[in-house]
Amino acid sequence: MSTETVLTIEHLNKSFGKKHIIKDLSMELNSGEVYGFLGPNGAGKTTTIKMIVGLLRIDSGSIKICGKDLLKNYEEAMGNIGGIVENPEMYKYLTGRQNLRQYARMRKGVTQKRIEEVIELVGLSNWADKKISKYSLGMRQRLGIAQAILHRPKILILDEPTNGLDPAGIKQMRGILRKLAHEEGVCVMVSSHLMSEMELMCDRVAIISKGELIEVQTIENLVNENSSTQQYIYQVNDVEALKKLLLDMYKDNEGVKAEQEDERTLVLTIPNELEKDLPKINKAVIEAGIELTTVSHKAAAKLEDAFIELTSDEQGGGQIA
Ligand SMILES: Nc1ncnc2c1ncn2[C@@H]1O[C@H](COP(=O)(O)OP(=O)(O)O)[C@@H](O)[C@H]1O
Ligand SMILES: [Mg+2]
Repeated sequence: MSTETVLTIEHLNKSFGKKHIIKDLSMELNSGEVYGFLGPNGAGKTTTIKMIVGLLRIDSGSIKICGKDLLKNYEEAMGNIGGIVENPEMYKYLTGRQNLRQYARMRKGVTQKRIEEVIELVGLSNWADKKISKYSLGMRQRLGIAQAILHRPKILILDEPTNGLDPAGIKQMRGILRKLAHEEGVCVMVSSHLMSEMELMCDRVAIISKGELIEVQTIENLVNENSSTQQYIYQVNDVEALKKLLLDMYKDNEGVKAEQEDERTLVLTIPNELEKDLPKINKAVIEAGIELTTVSHKAAAKLEDAFIELTSDEQGGGQIA
């Protein structure tokens, strides 16, 4: 699947009264990626998204959707966008399938086959003939996605889609969005104020703070570049023994820390340059007869730290370029 730029935002500005809310925002989003739009509450995510989906007027700058300027070619531009900003309109007393049919009538060229396709895509096959009043929040969100992608938009935009969902619901949502991007080539833009959520869901993340774009990074880089250490979580049968082994191995290195988290869990902190030692460490653990259940990279927490660091207003306004 070839990648193309499907959304180009240039020097976007928006004020409410005298308050300058969105400040010279520029971004490019590609087909086939899940693009996270991350920022604390009040950063300007919803305002930006409303401008992209045509719900709010632009003060200055431009938004191009698949090369079409939103202001000059409104219809064509909007034809390539599907979005959920506020709760989508749905009829509670109708079933999921009936709702989609109802909605399809307002859209050109949506076939019965497409309706079945989107039901399958969002995993609602078993629920399509149940009334929406019986749906969980997660199911309603997924039906909202089904509705938003009926007309096969190249861009799907969701404002905080995981708000209020339980972990299982978040996981399902993540699976659907990643599939849409990676298998169907859709550009999926999701906003969130939670870094840990973005890490698992997105390919790239843009961080916005006080209406300004602070940085755009692949998740991978964001995790690695903003920290000089890495953390690994070890699940073992004997935490004491593991701790002793690690501290013996690295007794001369102050950068290495081994901390017990609970009965079976130890968190190892090592400087980036020692990451290459990991196979050696794990071999030693096995050789010492310690039963190793799992080792996992504790990236989410670090990413959270990176996010806080990036969006926090340091004295003198020190900005991270
Ligand atoms: N219609 C409006 N009138 C005045 N101020 C607004 C309006 N909508 C949003 N704002 C302000 O703009 C800022 C950004 O809001 P918003 O885009 O909703 O942030 P986010 O979605 O990142 O939480 C906030 O300070 C908010 O109070
Ligand atoms: Mg918002």
